[in-house]
Amino acid sequence: MTAGDYYNAHSQQQHNATIACLPLLERAAGDVPLPAAGQPFLIADYGAAQGRNSLEPVRTILATIRRRLPLPAPIAVVHTDLPENDFNALFTLLGESPESYLRDAPEVYAFAAGKTFYEQVFPGGLVSLGYTASTVHWLSAAPGPLSGHIWPLRAEGPTHDAFAARARQDWQTFLACRSRELRPGGQLVVMAGLRDAAGHCGLDGVMDLANEALQELVAAGTLTAAAYERMVLPIYYQTAEEYIAALGPDAASGAGAVLRLVESQEVSLSDVYWRQYEATRDAQAYAAAYAAYLRAFTEPSLFGTAGPAQRAPGAVSLADVFYQRVQERIAAEPARAVSHWRILLLRVARPLAA
Ligand SMILES: C[S@@+](CC[C@H](N)C(=O)[O-])C[C@H]1O[C@@H](n2cnc3c(N)ncnc32)[C@H](O)[C@@H]1O
Repeated sequence: MTAGDYYNAHSQQQHNATIACLPLLERAAGDVPLPAAGQPFLIADYGAAQGRNSLEPVRTILATIRRRLPLPAPIAVVHTDLPENDFNALFTLLGESPESYLRDAPEVYAFAAGKTFYEQVFPGGLVSLGYTASTVHWLSAAPGPLSGHIWPLRAEGPTHDAFAARARQDWQTFLACRSRELRPGGQLVVMAGLRDAAGHCGLDGVMDLANEALQELVAAGTLTAAAYERMVLPIYYQTAEEYIAALGPDAASGAGAVLRLVESQEVSLSDVYWRQYEATRDAQAYAAAYAAYLRAFTEPSLFGTAGPAQRAPGAVSLADVFYQRVQERIAAEPARAVSHWRILLLRVARPLAA
């Protein structure tokens, strides 16, 4: 995600999705077995970015666990992400934010792990409660180029099939790694974006608009055609059935079979920026908020990691030009950007005997 405080400040849609996870986190924290005396209760937050959207979920878990596990029992929270993630911003937030779950929370310790979640991140059997939100639709890598678009869900034929196959394989790998890391009886709560049977995921409008803005830059000679052809967002949304098929004894592959589905729920989220726009009819403010939201999660994949926080003040980059163009297009056609995001909430458990 774009570094510094940028993603934290421009991820209200993702924040909205984490709120939907809170009841499942509360139930997971109420159900999981507690560690033996003296052992820390370990919470893993997979794909934390710069942490703002993890504060409330972790606070929710802590509230329930602390009731069950009184002081001075220690609780450890490990935020994981890719090595290039801005963990400095995360620890600054944890240390300084009034919203930090570390406030007035004795014997709670925060750590970070910089490693892909498509590998085992923790020693076997260490994690009591895992959580991940807005992450598992990010692929380990794009399986190949995507011609004429940046959004894999717009691909067709064999190109689409290659992205779908990578998503299926990555999800199985993710579950297999978590099934080894969870303690027997440990639970994992997952929030993932969904594709419907027609292939739509609710972000299609804004992605088409962004793609058109890039094609305009190519036509204007601002972006080379070759650079545009290399651009792809390594994201693929599976259907609810596809996510669930990888779990339990009937799983097509054995990878996630050890984990049991405890509960699942599909939720349609309203677009927080559109709600504000409907209240104010301020198209410029809506477009600015939307372009910043899009930038916060797409910039590193499209333009590399030298985002606004990394550049000299006043320097204008190709990314600045692009997101400004996106903003102008959204201001001109506000309804095209509105998202109809559907998410899947999953609570899964490693059986006590496994
Ligand atoms: C959209 S952000 C979500 C951040 C946060 N969980 C939230 O709810 O706002 C996706 C995060 O997943 C991380 N991510 C993507 N692929 C990953 C991988 N293979 N291993 C670990 N983290 C990954 C990204 O770096 C990014 O920080």
